[in-house]
Amino acid sequence: MAPPCAIVIFGSTGDLTQRKLLPALFELARHGRMPDRCALVGFARGETDDAAMRARMRQAAAEAVGPGGLDGAAWERFSTTLHACPGAYDDPASFARLKATLDRLDVEHGTQGNRLFYLAIPPSSYAPVVRNLGAAGLVPRGSGRAATGWTRVIIEKPFGHDLASATALNTEISGALSEDQIYRIDHYLGKETVQNIIVLRFGNGIFEPIWNRRYVDRVQITMAETIGIGSRGRFYEEAGAMRDIVQNHLLQVMALVAMEPPVSFDADTVRDEKAKVFKAIRPIPLEEVDRHAVRAQYGPGTVGGAAATGYRGESNVAPDSVTETYVALRLMVDSWRWAGVPFYLRTGKRMPKTLTEVAIRFTRIPHLLFRDLPEEQQRPNELVLRLQPDEGISLSFGAKVPGADLEIRPVTMDFSYAKSFGAEPTPAYERLILDAMKGDASLFIRADGVRETWSVVQPILDAWAARGKAPIPVYPAGSWGPAEADDLMARDHRRWRNT
Ligand SMILES: NC(=O)c1ccc[n+]([C@@H]2O[C@H](COP(=O)([O-])OP(=O)(O)OC[C@H]3O[C@@H](n4cnc5c(N)ncnc54)[C@H](OP(=O)(O)O)[C@@H]3O)[C@@H](O)[C@H]2O)c1
Repeated sequence: MAPPCAIVIFGSTGDLTQRKLLPALFELARHGRMPDRCALVGFARGETDDAAMRARMRQAAAEAVGPGGLDGAAWERFSTTLHACPGAYDDPASFARLKATLDRLDVEHGTQGNRLFYLAIPPSSYAPVVRNLGAAGLVPRGSGRAATGWTRVIIEKPFGHDLASATALNTEISGALSEDQIYRIDHYLGKETVQNIIVLRFGNGIFEPIWNRRYVDRVQITMAETIGIGSRGRFYEEAGAMRDIVQNHLLQVMALVAMEPPVSFDADTVRDEKAKVFKAIRPIPLEEVDRHAVRAQYGPGTVGGAAATGYRGESNVAPDSVTETYVALRLMVDSWRWAGVPFYLRTGKRMPKTLTEVAIRFTRIPHLLFRDLPEEQQRPNELVLRLQPDEGISLSFGAKVPGADLEIRPVTMDFSYAKSFGAEPTPAYERLILDAMKGDASLFIRADGVRETWSVVQPILDAWAARGKAPIPVYPAGSWGPAEADDLMARDHRRWRNT
């Protein structure tokens, strides 16, 4: 159970709040996971009063629950904790009003001066809000781990647009906050299946001994989506797949796969190990970017039987845009454990399937006992961690096909979350908000994690930016990406695992 606290959502009228944060908070309350004394404050220019905010939030919660219908009694209990605080992000008077509201709620709801601020606002407002929180005396420095009167700030992604802006943002916010107060969120890390990478590796005896260059041939991490950019053209034109997915989600997942066993499970120890992975990723020289990185954009095609427009035909996208919707990377980790083992990362929109998975391909058997069989029948083992959908883990191995002849075929041992536990995994935002209330920052990104991940992708972004509007490869919507990505693999005598 989390301690009593007030949660302030900046940007409470926005999309993220309505679709994710509010439903997550309500679900936590419905399952008795919210503190028994808590208050939720919505801060936005568009807020007016408690009644209007509660009505809007009820609607959002009902939409999130879907046809099953909202639990009315639970909602009535929950809604009494919701309070509106209209205000502007750059207006000190609004923050003085927020302080007065929080002081009042401490008395009314018994929240004991514990405060969690959630910045669900455009990135350009992160620094002004943090500055104003500091100036209003709302975030006493060093109070992130205090027993009572703690203050913490959750900051949404994206954290910076490149290495320079991320570093500048870190410097700005650390003017008002100490690192123990800063919770940089990557909701991917809140997914059960992502956390299960740690449990699989360090909660079992059989995997860790083979989790290294001697037994692993390559690691492939894929995050593919069938959807295009939808109505997010304006946002996507500024971001692109490298900034939107690779710099954060894929590198974070890679770190969990590649890190050394931490000596304990506390936040800093785990994050120390992840940071070592990022530091060990071999820098890609500017002039060699094309050998290690491929970008591409979807053209017109067919996805799931339906015709799909190309990226340049989407709304709010420039007709000569070179923003990438696909990235494939080949990264090497210069460490004792991973020397010589490539990590292939790729993400794309308008792919044939929506899936996120980590595939660990093991080395070939050292001696081919069944010489007369074609080599493809004696495929190396593969461990696939399915992060979504159909969350689970499968291990493939060769088995004899029944019959008088010797024929080997790959089969799988399969674990499925839904079948084994009969329950859906806890949604990421629920888990992460709960952790922040409890003061557990293990699943949040530390300042060095942000810096190091930007450092990994920056040379690639620079090389691409230097080419201006020169055309980039195009792949048909509904395909697994451009030929250039296949070439990247072929140079290593390998092929992508396309499921
Ligand atoms: N939506 C998602 O699924 C998602 C996923 C991952 C990360 N995020 C991140 O979460 C943050 C919020 O995203 P969102 O999708 O909720 O954005 P949004 O729908 O545009 O909402 C933005 C909120 O911020 C407020 N705001 C403050 N300054 C603003 C400005 N200059 N222009 C427009 N609105 C401003 C708006 O409230 P008032 O206008 O009422 O003040 C609104 O409540 C962003 O940093 C985004 O990158 C969102």
